[in-house]
Amino acid sequence: MSTVGPACAIPVPEDVPTPELLERAWAARAALGDRLVILGHHYQKHEVMDFADITGDSFLLAQRGAAATQADLILFLGVYFMAESADILSQPHQTVVLPDLGAGCHLAECADIFTVRDAWAQMTAALPGKRVIPLTYMNSGADLKAFVGEHGGAVCTSGNAERAFRWALSEGDAVFFFPDEHLGRNTGVRIGMPEDHGVVWDPRVAELGGADPARLAGTRLILWKGFCNVHTTFTVRQIEEARAADPGVRVIVHPECPRPVGAAADEDGSTEYIIRRCEELPAGSSIVIGTDWNLVDRLRLRHPDKAIRCLNEHICPCVTMNRITLPKLTWCLESLAAGEIVNVVDVDDDMKRWARVALDRMLALA
Ligand code: 13P
Ligand code: SF4
Repeated sequence: MSTVGPACAIPVPEDVPTPELLERAWAARAALGDRLVILGHHYQKHEVMDFADITGDSFLLAQRGAAATQADLILFLGVYFMAESADILSQPHQTVVLPDLGAGCHLAECADIFTVRDAWAQMTAALPGKRVIPLTYMNSGADLKAFVGEHGGAVCTSGNAERAFRWALSEGDAVFFFPDEHLGRNTGVRIGMPEDHGVVWDPRVAELGGADPARLAGTRLILWKGFCNVHTTFTVRQIEEARAADPGVRVIVHPECPRPVGAAADEDGSTEYIIRRCEELPAGSSIVIGTDWNLVDRLRLRHPDKAIRCLNEHICPCVTMNRITLPKLTWCLESLAAGEIVNVVDVDDDMKRWARVALDRMLALA
């Protein structure tokens, strides 16, 4: 990966009044016209989301971003791995920029190429004659996407994990899924595996990730021990309290939540699924949602006829998603309009080739 331009400078003073920032940002956006497309993930702050031409969960943004070939510039309102994926799927004439290159993802950081390569070498040696298919969650670095592409695997998102797992199990004997243990377990249950099926691979344990060799030999699911620090703050107790306060409440959670939370909820699904369910449920519904606060708050504002709230009212929103602020967006747009391309996300060509194979496999499954 390489970048050009100032990386994390605070470009527009944070104390410029919001109306002035908005005026400047919209003027720069208008000057860029069709040369620019802005993609926005649902967890972004309200103050920047209004600028998005295309909104979506990570799957839709990959799919629709790849189709937006008319624009030379793609500005991503989201986190680093999403911007990398947009770059991998982009055309040669396109450049991807991210208003803050420090917008990472705790979950994606739970796996790195060195420990995954080591785990792969150990598990394939321990499982002779068994074909293991590696699957990486979209929330992972471009190098891990390239790794799965090169080893017969694919990328998946929370919106298509079930389909990707079924595909992988039709191609091989077992799935090696990283970096989210919880999405992996929730998906395993969805495709019919018992709750306690699967072996957890802990990258901090040198030998076989702490897995029991006999269990490893018998499993169809190997799960990396990684987690999202937002979705693991939701608990079964919060669900019980929500039900005690309102027995008619509908509880919907994201599948990055731990399995007991998914099991206690009424439904689980990707951010796009959660949005759809809020539209479908009738007026007067009481809905409690276990996912990032920015999205839940937007849903609350969008559906004044329904009582929508976050499962954890005291949650800290995803801090990395929140690094994309109006001042940074304004700086980015004004720089682009002035002909200076800043904060480029540019995945190395070799890495891009195999990562694209893995992302294309995912898009083909859809
Ligand atoms: P989605 O795949 O639902 O967009 O989720 C991405 C993410 O980062 C969730 O924490
Ligand atoms: Fe990553 Fe979790 Fe933030 Fe999603 S909510 S971007 S998984 S840290």
